[in-house]
Amino acid sequence: MCGIVGYVGFKEKKEILLDSLQELEYRGYDSAGMAVIQDDTIHHFKAIGKLSNLKDKTKDYQSQGFGISIGHTRWATHGKPTELNAHPHLGDYSYVVHNGIIENYQALKKSLQAKGVKFVSQTDTETIVHLFEDEHKTADSVFEAFTQTLDKLKGAYATLLISKADTQTIYFAKHGSPMLVGFEGDDIYFASSDTPIIGKATAVYYLEDGEYGYASKGKLHLFDAHGKKDFSTQVLCTDKVLAQKDGYRFFMEKEIYEQSTVMSDTMMGRVLDHSIVLDELDADFFQDIKAIKICACGTSYHSALTSAYLFERLSKIRCDIEIASEFRYKEPLLTPDTLFITISQSGETADTLEALKMAKRAGLKSLSICNVDNSSIVRESDTAILTRAGIEKGVASTKAFATQTMVLWILSLYIGQTKKTITQEILQKEIDAMLHIPKSLQVSDVLHEKLHRLSKRYLHGHGFFFIGRDIFYPLALEGALKLKEISYLHAEGYPAGEMKHGPIALADSELFTIALMPKSMHYEKIKSNVEELSARDATICAISPEPFALADDFIQTKYSFHPMVEFFEMMVVTQLFALEIAVRLGNDVDMPRNLAKSVTVE
Ligand code: AGP
Repeated sequence: MCGIVGYVGFKEKKEILLDSLQELEYRGYDSAGMAVIQDDTIHHFKAIGKLSNLKDKTKDYQSQGFGISIGHTRWATHGKPTELNAHPHLGDYSYVVHNGIIENYQALKKSLQAKGVKFVSQTDTETIVHLFEDEHKTADSVFEAFTQTLDKLKGAYATLLISKADTQTIYFAKHGSPMLVGFEGDDIYFASSDTPIIGKATAVYYLEDGEYGYASKGKLHLFDAHGKKDFSTQVLCTDKVLAQKDGYRFFMEKEIYEQSTVMSDTMMGRVLDHSIVLDELDADFFQDIKAIKICACGTSYHSALTSAYLFERLSKIRCDIEIASEFRYKEPLLTPDTLFITISQSGETADTLEALKMAKRAGLKSLSICNVDNSSIVRESDTAILTRAGIEKGVASTKAFATQTMVLWILSLYIGQTKKTITQEILQKEIDAMLHIPKSLQVSDVLHEKLHRLSKRYLHGHGFFFIGRDIFYPLALEGALKLKEISYLHAEGYPAGEMKHGPIALADSELFTIALMPKSMHYEKIKSNVEELSARDATICAISPEPFALADDFIQTKYSFHPMVEFFEMMVVTQLFALEIAVRLGNDVDMPRNLAKSVTVE
């Protein structure tokens, strides 16, 4: 979840790196850095916080003539956001930037330390540069040392390395994390996505996993497992907005598809094989905490509602959820043994921010779950856990909801683990389910096509009811909100068991019921609720792994042993369902009428 850039050529390198990093800042902004080698001299700079801090630090520096350069913007996974942990990481005479995770870094670090190598950071990345310099002691060339280094790394990475041992060349490798190479004349650029190099390069080569090599004056040498490789470039798109959409029609669509990968980022370094780690929280953070109160708005509120089930079930801690705009004026009773959590994608929502200030005035400990570091809510909170969803451009929130819910699930397990309210066996079952989530969020062409075809039957009618039970009730609320926001059709989320207490009066063939029917949780209960609606001739669209005879339309999801896996899979279905209806109605999906991405007014 970091951003990488590199440049080989005669142009002024600092400006190229800073400008490129600006485009990647959404991928991480807890620190940034750069290293430039020119005339056998290395210049390097690092700064914590936003890129503007690195800009300030480098304001008196300018590069001249030919040189090589690398830059990085970081989102902390191993080790806190400090200057020492910021990239580029240095050895004695080499620098490296890296995106991804080196799984075997501890073993490598140990063996290097045994040889007397000193480490200054807590990162996995630093291992790469020391390993390289260690290999270089015996290798015949810098390139051989680099390839020997790669042979020893396990995990996912994209990396760039420069060294005083070869001041004309950038060494690169891609294995599981994105990286591409841009070309313009003799200039060669590297970046983790194409937007940083649009306007600079005209041709691009998207590196494949397992490819590595080196770039020197005007020439790229590419290798893979079979040795040296020819490659051909393609024309680089010139429209940044189009490029940012990565070929999707809308940002919202892209963000739905991205959920699978961003969830891995959210879990990285937090969900380990057998335990949960939250570096953001001090060991005694929950010591005096007896209850949790969460305040949020809109989609973030739905994520909070979901988490209340998890906190009470797994952490055995009382959890109340409040809509921030209601909380502000209700004269709430707040006790100091309550942890006050705010959830916000933007970190700027006025109602949520004000609720947080009220809680702080009452002396409550505060924690925010947010997607934007340094936002007002993060700054105002005692501690923050970032969701790492990356910038979300679609006004209708998708990946922010997914990652917020994941962070809350992680947090509920963290409390369960700390307070010993869950056994290791249950913890393991939850972790196994979590590790399955990125896969369950992958969107299949078959599913998307099915929802596209189905959507034409849902463009009219007098309303939608999304229904579900337990954690699927907040998901029903969220499904209805998504549909409302972008289709402008009336939709409501309801607890399935509550329909017979009033809303069922609306049931007729023009009432569309979207029924969330997971097999791993209360299946028979929801089934009877849906049967009651079907008996009143409501049109039923069932989302379930289990075929349902009374469904007018049926979207089959996968069976799973864990409700959260079903939850996330159904979430994708409801998001795509809303998207396809809105597209058919000709609406502006990314900027729906009357809405704003960040609601900074009361
Ligand atoms: C969701 O699709 C929204 N556009 C909206 O409900 C949003 O979740 C709400 O305004 C809260 O925003 P926040 O998460 O940035 O605080």
